[in-house]
Amino acid sequence: MKNIYLIGFMGSGKTTIGSCLQPFLQKDFIDIDQWIEAKVNMKIPTIFATKGESFFRKYETICLKEISKNTIVATGGGIVEVDENIQLMKKNGTLIYLHTTFDEITKRLKSNTTRPLWNAPIDERIRLYNRRISLYEKHADIIVETTEKTSEHITKEIVKHLHE
Ligand code: S3P
Repeated sequence: MKNIYLIGFMGSGKTTIGSCLQPFLQKDFIDIDQWIEAKVNMKIPTIFATKGESFFRKYETICLKEISKNTIVATGGGIVEVDENIQLMKKNGTLIYLHTTFDEITKRLKSNTTRPLWNAPIDERIRLYNRRISLYEKHADIIVETTEKTSEHITKEIVKHLHE
């Protein structure tokens, strides 16, 4: 059975929607960020500060390789930065892109300090967002708008797409 990979920018709701989808799809659920934190025994800001981003990216690929079949996977926003990750996801399942506008992300992550790449000047954040959205759009099998929608609404929309 195929996996479901939720992709999208930080704060797009991948973890929330992944757990909402679980009862509808009878699949396991895994959050890659949480998996890495448990594996390395460090929180993400500490991993970035002490080991660096490339260390973290290597663990994302290791996790993608270890995930068993029939799983809903909440990825980190940077999963699309590595081509091998995209190939692994395409080979093993369906990529669902949760699109959220930059303004909405800014509101959601206003006082968030757990995302090292969001703690950057505004022009860098805009550049990162624009570069990432073209990658998500390019590789997604299904695109779902999340701005101004409830989790229930988004979940139902995804389930409907998957049954089409
Ligand atoms: C990252 C997104 C984060 C986490 C790490 C790097 C990124 O996950 O993996 O801080 O590069 O966009 P979320 O998308 O769940 O916030």
